[in-house]
Amino acid sequence: MDPARIAPSILAADFAHLAEDVARVEPHVDLLHLDVMDGHFVPNLSFGLPVVASLRKTSGLYFDCHLMMTNPDAYFEQFAKAGANLVSVHMEIYPDPTVVARLARGLGLDFGLVLSPNVPLAGADPFLELCDLLLVMSVAPGFGGQAFRPEVLPKIEAARETVERRGLSVDIQVDGGVTPDTAPLARSAGADILVAGTAIFADPDPVAAVHRLRAAIDQADTWQNGS
Ligand code: DX5
Ligand code: ZN
Repeated sequence: MDPARIAPSILAADFAHLAEDVARVEPHVDLLHLDVMDGHFVPNLSFGLPVVASLRKTSGLYFDCHLMMTNPDAYFEQFAKAGANLVSVHMEIYPDPTVVARLARGLGLDFGLVLSPNVPLAGADPFLELCDLLLVMSVAPGFGGQAFRPEVLPKIEAARETVERRGLSVDIQVDGGVTPDTAPLARSAGADILVAGTAIFADPDPVAAVHRLRAAIDQADTWQNGS
């Protein structure tokens, strides 16, 4: 398994000081998670293309755009122009994501598939070859600050087993309720990328919060390697 990567979710940042919030953690994290919500696929609105484009001017991080939208493919080209590196879309919207995966790739974007907690891995299984990322959500999509749902751990384990068995280069990402207490569970189950919003940006010292998360993940790796 690759070294773990940490992806702060800007959903929990201060939108009036977004560039500063991101710049502060940038040297300490691996990529940035941007949650785009349309108020339709999920009952919440967050931000859209202008925010991605503005942040692109101030940050060199890889932009992982989690699109909680009913028609994300209509905006892929604009996300690519705004500076996104990856777009991930929900299985609920695309039971067969072949066409949208090709569309993303044709625009130079990496492609991810997202499984909400109640969506099984089986639906994504035939399409993993098309993916750079499989996002296993550990909360219901739409809101930050929810508690991690441990019942998704077997799905993360099954995804890891599948990726290894088929020799796929698909990153497994976990998103929702990730804290120093829950990150080790997700990591031990097989996650490569841990998304954390509240645990990083709601902390008075986001850099220290990133270091605490990384220490907890390193501890999980040590246990794993020792067992
Ligand atoms: C929820 C979003 C998450 C959210 C995670 O729909 O996909 O990325 O920002 O927030 P926390 O880390 O607060 O659970
Ligand atoms: Zn997300």
